[in-house]
Order: sequence, then C-alpha cells, then structure tokens
Amino acid sequence: MRIAISTGGGDAPGLNAVIRAAVLSALDRGWHVLGIRKGYAGLLGDDDVVPLSRDDVRGIGHLGGTILRTTNRGNPFSYPVKQADGSFHEVDRSDELIENARNLGINAVVAIGGDGSLRIAHQLWQKGLRVVGVPKTIDNDVSGTVTTFGFDTAVSTAMEAIDKLHTTAESHDRVIVMEVMGRHAGFIALHSGLSGAAHVILIPEIPYDIEKVCEAIMERERRGRYFDVVVVAEGAHAKGGESSTIGASLPGQDRRVGGVGERVAHEIQERTGKECRSIVLGHLQRGGMPTGYDRLLATRFGGAAVAAVDAGMWGHMVALKSPDIVTIPIDEALKAPRRVDPNHDVVRTARRTGISFGD
Ligand code: F6P
Repeated sequence: MRIAISTGGGDAPGLNAVIRAAVLSALDRGWHVLGIRKGYAGLLGDDDVVPLSRDDVRGIGHLGGTILRTTNRGNPFSYPVKQADGSFHEVDRSDELIENARNLGINAVVAIGGDGSLRIAHQLWQKGLRVVGVPKTIDNDVSGTVTTFGFDTAVSTAMEAIDKLHTTAESHDRVIVMEVMGRHAGFIALHSGLSGAAHVILIPEIPYDIEKVCEAIMERERRGRYFDVVVVAEGAHAKGGESSTIGASLPGQDRRVGGVGERVAHEIQERTGKECRSIVLGHLQRGGMPTGYDRLLATRFGGAAVAAVDAGMWGHMVALKSPDIVTIPIDEALKAPRRVDPNHDVVRTARRTGISFGD
C-alpha cells in the first residue's frame, strides 16, 4: 500500500501532528508514505512529491505550520496558470492530477484541509481518486465534527492578546478594538472574547448596530469603567451592511476580508469621543505551537485517517464525535457550513456576563 498526504488551504497549528501520526500509523502497517508538497502542486509538476519516513516526521508534532507546505490557490479544478502576458487564467487539471497519482503508484490520498480542500477532495474521489479527508480549520467552521485542531490554539492566542490589551486599555481609559480571524464564522471572536472577558464581541452571525455598541461602552463609563476591549471577527458587519474587504487578492484566491476593526474603532471614537485604538491579530492566530488539546486531536485524526484508509472508507473524513473519532461522508460535512448559533449557550452566557453583541 502506498498512500500520499497533502495539506491544503490556510495552515493551522496541528497539521504537523496529523502528518506525523499518519506517517507513523502507515509505516506501522508496513505501507509506504509520500508527501505531496504545496497542496496538490506536487502532483501537478509545480512542486515535488517526497517519500516520508520515520526520520522525516521525527520531532515535528509540536511545531506549527506544515512540513509539506500549503496553498489556498491550488484548486486542481480551477488551477491558476500564468499566461505569456503575465495574466492568469484558470484551467481544470484534475485529470492530469489523477493520472500522475496513478503513475506514482499512489493507492490513496489523505487530504488534510478546510471546507474548500475537503470539497476538492470529494470531487477528486468522485472522479476516481481514493481519498480520505481530515478536517482542518482555525475558524471552527467545518460541520460534522465537534471541532477541529487549530481552533483551540487560535483561541488561546487571541485570549492572551485580550489579556494584554486589558491592562493597556485600562491604564489609558481607551477603547481597544481587536480584529480576529473568521470570515464567515465568529467562533474565534466569541470563544476568545468570552474567555478573555472582552466587553463587546462582534461576529458575522449577529450583525451589529454601532449605536448599540456605543451605548454599551457609555453604560460602562457611567459605572466608572473607563476602558473597553472590543473583539471583532473580520467578517462582522453592521445590520444591513456587508463585510469589509481589503487589498487585492491573487488569482485563484477569495477576496480578502478585513478592515472592520479599524472601521469600528473610528466609529466608536467619533460617536463617544473616547480615545480608540485598533489592532489586527492576523496570522499570529495561525502560527505557533499547537496547544495540548490540538496536538492530541490532530494526532488522533492522523491515526484515524490511516485506519479509515485501511478500512476503505473512501470519500469519508475523520471527525470528532466526543469522546470518539468517527468517519463520516465528506459531503455530509459540506452540506452546511458551521456557524455560531446566536441562541447557543456560549452566546447566552456571554450576554449574561454583561458582554454586548451590539444588537
Ligand atoms: O484559516 C482561515 C482563515 O484564517 C480566515 O479566517 C482568514 O480570512 C484567512 O484564513 C486568511 O488566510 P490567508 O491570509 O492565508 O489568505
């Protein structure tokens, strides 16, 4: 048996732990393992496919990032190809990918990725490639699994930042707005905001009214609390408005969401007269060593993915169904993305502890 592992989409702390566990579990079965570099680029001649041995995965379980590297511009069904004039156009290279996998003697692919990468994995399986998926996202927006690795680390990083912002905001009587990741889902903002005791949390699932945000800030002021920490998910938007986008995106990439933190800070300052600052936590949330929780989950996912290959669970992905790791059809997980339920007890608990959602 010869399996190949790929990591696609944005990186997440824990990817290396999945790779390590999958390699060791496969070697333990007497299989051969290949690593496809940079998403699927390694299978399309734009990068390499390398053998993965015990030595290659030694000492990587605690490291952030992915030793295989990754990309969020590598969809083989709409692969950006550079033209002579420097422009890009997208072509379907999926047949070529499957042919190359066959020529390399790859019997199965373990595809580690978020909803985009899992959708690609599912399409490749429908075209005949034997695939098992491993869900990955710091945003916690993949359905079918209680959670994925990377999320806990991102929440811890954001919570630590909130702790630090508290002291400086309080010293200066300022409002500090921190923008965290989450284009469509506000889990990082919600969980870090509640655990870090932020005063306002703005998420895409609960559109905000800036007047309500300012009311909450002024109400605190009346109670003698002169500072505030506001946590905003990058995809949060005002009622009736849209998420703000920034910068230019490269071919094959979604438009980048961001800028809401600065916008909210500006609007609060204008309306309340309080001094505001904003910070974008950005890719710090994706870096660093995975927490113990993420390392353990990632390791269990890696081992379970190889067991799923062994059992011929093609088109399935591993998932956490506490306390067990199970396999579910990838398309089941893709039916509806996971979003924050505004009636969830985490939201209700936040409200009861005095946190405003600006609604
Ligand atoms: O991993 C998902 C995510 O963290 C989103 O929340 C964020 O918008 C995006 O990745 C940014 O990714 P990149 O900068 O790699 O395009």
